[in-house]
Amino acid sequence: MTELTHHEYDVVIIGAGGAGLRAAIEASSSGAKVAMISKSMLGKAHTVMAEGGAAAALANKDPRDSWQTHFRDTLKGGKYLGDWRMAQIHAQQAPDRIRELEQWGAVFDRTPKGLSSQRNFGGHTYPRLAHIGDATGLELIRTLQQRGIHMGMDVFMEFTVRRLFKSQDKISGCFAYDRNDGSMHLFKSKAIVLATGGITRCWEVCSGSWEYTGEGHALAYWIGAEIGDMEFVQFHPTGMIWPPSVKGILVTEGVRGEGGKLLNSEGKRFMFDYIPEMYKDEFADSIEESEAWVKEVVSGKLATHRRPPELLTRDVVAKAINSERDAGRASEHGGAYLDISWRNPDQVKKKLPGMYHQFKELAAVDITKERMEVGPTAHYVMGGVKVDPYSQETSVPGLFAAGEAATGLHGANRLGGNSLLEINQSEIDEVLAETLEPLSRKGGENPAKIVNDLRVMMQKKAGIIRTGELLKEALADLDELENRAKLSSPGGGMKYNPGWHQALEIGAMIDVSRMCALAALKREESRGAHTRDDFPEADNSHWGKINSVIKLSEDGSMKIEFTSYPKIPSELRKLLDAGDLNEEE
Ligand code: FUM
Repeated sequence: MTELTHHEYDVVIIGAGGAGLRAAIEASSSGAKVAMISKSMLGKAHTVMAEGGAAAALANKDPRDSWQTHFRDTLKGGKYLGDWRMAQIHAQQAPDRIRELEQWGAVFDRTPKGLSSQRNFGGHTYPRLAHIGDATGLELIRTLQQRGIHMGMDVFMEFTVRRLFKSQDKISGCFAYDRNDGSMHLFKSKAIVLATGGITRCWEVCSGSWEYTGEGHALAYWIGAEIGDMEFVQFHPTGMIWPPSVKGILVTEGVRGEGGKLLNSEGKRFMFDYIPEMYKDEFADSIEESEAWVKEVVSGKLATHRRPPELLTRDVVAKAINSERDAGRASEHGGAYLDISWRNPDQVKKKLPGMYHQFKELAAVDITKERMEVGPTAHYVMGGVKVDPYSQETSVPGLFAAGEAATGLHGANRLGGNSLLEINQSEIDEVLAETLEPLSRKGGENPAKIVNDLRVMMQKKAGIIRTGELLKEALADLDELENRAKLSSPGGGMKYNPGWHQALEIGAMIDVSRMCALAALKREESRGAHTRDDFPEADNSHWGKINSVIKLSEDGSMKIEFTSYPKIPSELRKLLDAGDLNEEE
């Protein structure tokens, strides 16, 4: 008999990044008994990759900024497919959240007047990103961890959750195992918050580390929650591309926010050739205009000039780098050059210390003197578990989702619990057996090989540029990978066995990859991060008004349908400059 340790909590939070920590602080402060389960070590979350800053219309650098402009930028950047209710809450609350972080000890860079400084970033009309050099996420995690630990939650590090349980249709707990010693654990809980981050380890080139295998999305799907917008996977335009061992590591957008220029092999600032119609009025269309803006940034004056096209939204910049490569104008190793060396070296080291050391130590490049080489890297999934915009509750009562695991924008609202219910013993036995089963397989493939093949396949067939044919192939390949995974044998025992962990992770990776490929196949248009070579135009009259929703059907198959958010009220509609919206009459 495998021993099972029992735990009981009011709230279990799965994931220890920014969203998980903030939810834990809120739940603890309301008196709830809180457990935080982290697949990795505390402090090692993808939030750390939000290097360049956190957006909030504080208007410290430019008094013209307001929540209304932030709201408009957010919906426009999302190509009008986002939930306007989340965009509104996010834009209105962000300044208070930054001030709260400051009160809790986060040390933001300052303006000469002592206010928290803000920098330009892709798609934001004004300098809006409060930052700490280029290590903002790290400082935020440090601050939230310190606050959270003092609130008195219990932390379970290096625990992987394998299954959620429901009782009478409400969430009742979860099952996890300890990656260190293979011990098995049952958590009963009135409420569970999924704050598990994203899925980008399903792509060969990504900015995330090994934890990013999409378990949160898969756990929600397996328990019957709705998953939305999975066709939208963000490729950040600037990851390292050389040497091969560091391919995908993030090069913060803060480099471009501080005036970094993107160049092709001919030394041309190619982004001037890629300004979409919808942004023509906002971005500088000549190098002279852009240089004038840059002078204002360097001298610390207001950004009264139009922004340079290097700061267009990420989908646009990533696709432009791809197009330059396809036209034979790539940098030496197949990407683009990013140049900040024209700025004063001391300023570069002060504002971008992490990038300075990253390139010096990993690529032997001194960015104060030489150009960097960069290319797109899978960074963030816009799709996730569908939640109520005001409570973050999913379609399963008692199950909440926050941060990247949820669709739409961040928001950690006060949690509401449900009554504690029993967990069915047969379900516990089933997940225990399922978890141990890979260890009994003999003579199969190494699970690491299957994970690698999946990542290479997704990069090729469900990457930045897609076609119907490639996506159908991806779905067929995923069936084949699933069959191979069932026969794989990790070998070894239950004490720290990475092969066994990978054999267990593959199920989630296959299902989240399937969600992406299926939703991408159905969406026959190009919009934001989803580009179909066979449907290159955006279709505002149909696809622009509907969002994909994926659910597990009773027969075990993956079901997809399309729905719309409620119509946008006319007072908010007036803030936007789109022509064809799903709006109130
Ligand atoms: O929030 C972000 O994804 C930030 C990334 C960056 O610093 O470039």
